[in-house]
Amino acid sequence: MKEPTLPCSSHPRAARRRALAIGTCLILGLSGLAHGFGVTPAGGGPAATSANPLAGNVAAARKGEELFGRNCQQCHNTRGHGGKCPQLVRGAWAPGGPNSDRFMFDTISKGRPNTQMGSFGLALSEEEIWQIVTFLREEAVRVKATARKAADDDDASWY
Ligand code: HEC
Repeated sequence: MKEPTLPCSSHPRAARRRALAIGTCLILGLSGLAHGFGVTPAGGGPAATSANPLAGNVAAARKGEELFGRNCQQCHNTRGHGGKCPQLVRGAWAPGGPNSDRFMFDTISKGRPNTQMGSFGLALSEEEIWQIVTFLREEAVRVKATARKAADDDDASWY
């Protein structure tokens, strides 16, 4: 099974919609916060910390991988690499990219209104959501390393 057939098939312009949604989130986030986005904890948000408390925790990432497989994979594809739904490990989600752990946490917890991205704030505990964030961030590091290696191999073939 490569790409999910059902979920997200009604999102042919997912990328543009995503950009719109991110913009909307930004505006909502900013109006709620009047502070830097992703820097300060979201007003009324479930978690008080702005950074992932489980960052780099290998056991947490393994748990997150399992949770992702059960709850997210059918839409976001294996390991969040995306198909018809947004990927969660490259571009703005790449290591050091503009999308923060907090932004990811809030997106998972609250969902995206009027899209297939539901809110998981009731189904999953805060710890479980952070475990998923930890897994996806780890996967993003792996994806980046793999891309760099492929580029190096490509370069090497020129000499
Ligand atoms: C039923 C399908 C579906 C499921 C299940 C689902 N998602 Fe999503 N998700 C989407 C769609 C569609 C979007 C894009 C929403 C939009 O248009 O902004 C999205 C967006 C996101 C985004 C923001 C992506 C971006 O680039 O803005 C994150 C992060 C995310 N999902 C994480 C998860 C996680 C983690 C889970 C599991 C706990 C999950 N999703 C489960 C469909 C799904």
